[in-house]
Amino acid sequence: MKPILFLLGLGVLTFALGKETPDLAEIHPGEIWPDTEGKPINAHGGGILFHEGTYYWYGEIKEGKTYLPEVNKSWGGTRVDVVGVSCYSSTDLLHWKNCGNVLPAVPSSDLDPKKVLERPKCIYNAKTKKFVLWFHSDSMDYAAASCGVAVSDQPTGPFIYQGSSRPNANNWPINITDEEKKAANSQLVKDFPIGQMARDMTVFVDDDQKAYLFAASEANPTMQISELTDDYLKTTGKYARVFQGRSMEAPAVFKRKGKYYLIASGCTAWAPNAARSAVADSIWGPWKELGNPCQGETSEISFNSQVTYALPISGQPDTFIFMADRWIKDDLADSRYIWLPIKFTNKGQPEIRWQDSWSID
Ligand code: DGJ
Repeated sequence: MKPILFLLGLGVLTFALGKETPDLAEIHPGEIWPDTEGKPINAHGGGILFHEGTYYWYGEIKEGKTYLPEVNKSWGGTRVDVVGVSCYSSTDLLHWKNCGNVLPAVPSSDLDPKKVLERPKCIYNAKTKKFVLWFHSDSMDYAAASCGVAVSDQPTGPFIYQGSSRPNANNWPINITDEEKKAANSQLVKDFPIGQMARDMTVFVDDDQKAYLFAASEANPTMQISELTDDYLKTTGKYARVFQGRSMEAPAVFKRKGKYYLIASGCTAWAPNAARSAVADSIWGPWKELGNPCQGETSEISFNSQVTYALPISGQPDTFIFMADRWIKDDLADSRYIWLPIKFTNKGQPEIRWQDSWSID
């Protein structure tokens, strides 16, 4: 080969590798993030469990063709068929090993490829020693609005599906007025006998090991916070309505210096919007909104992303990572991850700023 051709080839290769394979010493928000086999990490709408020195990242496997089903044409809800829940493990938050599909789709069941399985979050129950996976389980048109639960003895599965249901059937929230109970047209009252709608969700384990479900409810305008049973498999029936009329999705919850924080998105399908944040002294509220934690250029669309989780870093108190999805609505499988540090002002206000790359240290 002529030296000039060789150099040209080398240049093209370096450019291609430079573009597609980010330096794994740092986090590169928005770029393809390869796993330890060099394949793009496929864990969307995900969350992370830290267990015995290892981080486990669970997420939606998005692969195959993106399409717009007839039932969702009115609001433009594109989708890929459900494949299952991925799990990746890492000890340094940079190098992730694919542990496989831990809850595969099952035709003709709640886990059917033509249904919806979103935002899987795994928590560990120290009493039962089980890993409990909660997720948004739905019909293709999002009308079922339920929670699915699956259980495993190991963080890497396989997870055994326990069923999908709507939480809190035949229970009133702790903060409802007599007047509100009589509002026959309200979604909450209509759903009283069959259980409350639950779409975008997360689960949060408090210091006392009590766990809670946060879910976009009542057709999305209101978030509901529900207490989980001691085994984390169900809701107890104790729940509160918060952020009424604020239409929040993608809740991410964490605790810092004894206060509860929430970061969430607005409700605009796959399109990015301005994130919101809130703080409370008690998990049941009152929750005080703190505004958009994203700061700087493109903060009004949260750096073109939607939050999915707030990750506490083990061994580093008050250190959290904002985890978000940069959805590509016409090719959902190509959606990317935005991870950025969460900083706090002196007044305890969370702030997230864009960085092209940053180191976990
Ligand atoms: C927004 C939600 O946050 C996502 O999880 C997903 O349900 C999309 N809507 C569907 O359009």
